[in-house]
Amino acid sequence: MTATEESLTMEEAIREQLKLAIDPQVFDGAEYQQDPFPIYRQLRDHHPIYQDRLHNRWVVSRYDDIVAIFQNNDDFDRASYDPKGEYEFGKDQVFGPNILEYGNSDEHRFLRNVVADQFVGNRLAGFLPFIEQIARELMGTIWEESADDIASGFSDKGEVELVSQFTNQFPIRVISNMLGLPREDEETFVRWYQHLIEGLGFGGEYFAKGMQARNEMWDYLDPLIRKAEDAPGEDLISRIVHAEFRGQRMNVDEIKGFIALLLAAGGDTTDKAIANMWYHMLYTRPDQFQEVQRAPSLWTNVFTEMMRYDPVVHGQARHTTREIKILDRVIPERALVSLFLGAGNRDERVFRDPDTYDIFRDDLHMGRELRSGRYPDGKHGHLGFGMGQHFCMGYAMARQEAIIASTRLGEAMKNPRPKFPTHEGITSPNLGSGGFRAPKELWVEFDVN
Ligand code: HEM
Repeated sequence: MTATEESLTMEEAIREQLKLAIDPQVFDGAEYQQDPFPIYRQLRDHHPIYQDRLHNRWVVSRYDDIVAIFQNNDDFDRASYDPKGEYEFGKDQVFGPNILEYGNSDEHRFLRNVVADQFVGNRLAGFLPFIEQIARELMGTIWEESADDIASGFSDKGEVELVSQFTNQFPIRVISNMLGLPREDEETFVRWYQHLIEGLGFGGEYFAKGMQARNEMWDYLDPLIRKAEDAPGEDLISRIVHAEFRGQRMNVDEIKGFIALLLAAGGDTTDKAIANMWYHMLYTRPDQFQEVQRAPSLWTNVFTEMMRYDPVVHGQARHTTREIKILDRVIPERALVSLFLGAGNRDERVFRDPDTYDIFRDDLHMGRELRSGRYPDGKHGHLGFGMGQHFCMGYAMARQEAIIASTRLGEAMKNPRPKFPTHEGITSPNLGSGGFRAPKELWVEFDVN
């Protein structure tokens, strides 16, 4: 090889390297908010442990690395505070003291154990009639509005904007009922919820509104907590107030913090999960949607594949407890590590043809998730509920809600179809405001006779 040829090859190699480099500003761009999947692939293939200097974090994108970190409590902590330093719970975030903030500590184990059984098994079964009732009520309103439009000649078919008329309303009303709040306060509760979710972002104005909503909600909860202490009922507030683990109960601030977290962790997520499932059935896989309509038990596969292919929650944070080496990178102590769940779920090292939404795929564990992420069928699970110590406490409830809601919607709407031929797709919320990925709107048409 001549000297000129050699320097050309080197130049090409450098050019190739530059092409593969990722500019961290990309994470704040509109294109990424809309479609992060090409960057996810680039991360997995070329920068599996990526140092993002702009956002001061390390990004992990491959499935196996994410699982290993979720399962490693010694080296990675959930807490965003330094346990040895000063930290005021609730000052910088809208929830107040809550189980996520307590990281991997004993306080976390206490808070989790004291309430975990409320959302699974028999306790969850006790709430299913509520869930059914609320789905039917919301469907009833949608039907009445469609029937009015048809009667007054505005339309000859039913139609609904699923996000504002159903998914935004459903899980929050379920939680409000579970908590035992008076039904006439539901609207106020929905408003607090919306402000709290927006307050999860970094925008000053959103954050201020979120804090105000939280403080109003906390004042509102005070007398209800006192009442539950003196005269407990069957509602979730009473159960949380009286729940004990090793003889200890939650204090009032922890109860309020938990309720505030419940709205975002259990409301916003399930809301958007239902919207994402319907979006993919209507636009991505109308062929498979026909099969789901014929066999509604397949909604469980629709849910599971959505949690892999286009999950609501795309990232979780951890902090290193010591300097640690992963692959060839050395991450310092107390560094922020971002686990890109949405990227891990599309890892071709684990899932065949990962960019195809397929409710019949045989390489994904379909059905109830396990905290360990290890399934007897030997298949891999999705990462959408996390794993390990902070594995989602509402995994069973979210699945039940999404399946009940979708089944009832499918029964009530005959021949559901997209109102518009194209759709802008699933996207992240506006920069600065909080919340998870979902379609902004989803118009559905259906037959009424
Ligand atoms: C489709 C709906 C849902 C999604 C996608 C979701 C997602 C998640 C994820 C990814 C985590 C892990 C956080 C981490 O590792 O740091 C988590 C934790 C949590 N989730 Fe969910 N969640 C959903 C529904 C629910 C529901 C319905 C509830 C309540 C009934 C709930 C309550 C919680 C709580 C309390 C935690 C914190 C657990 C802990 O720190 O030990 N979630 N969720």
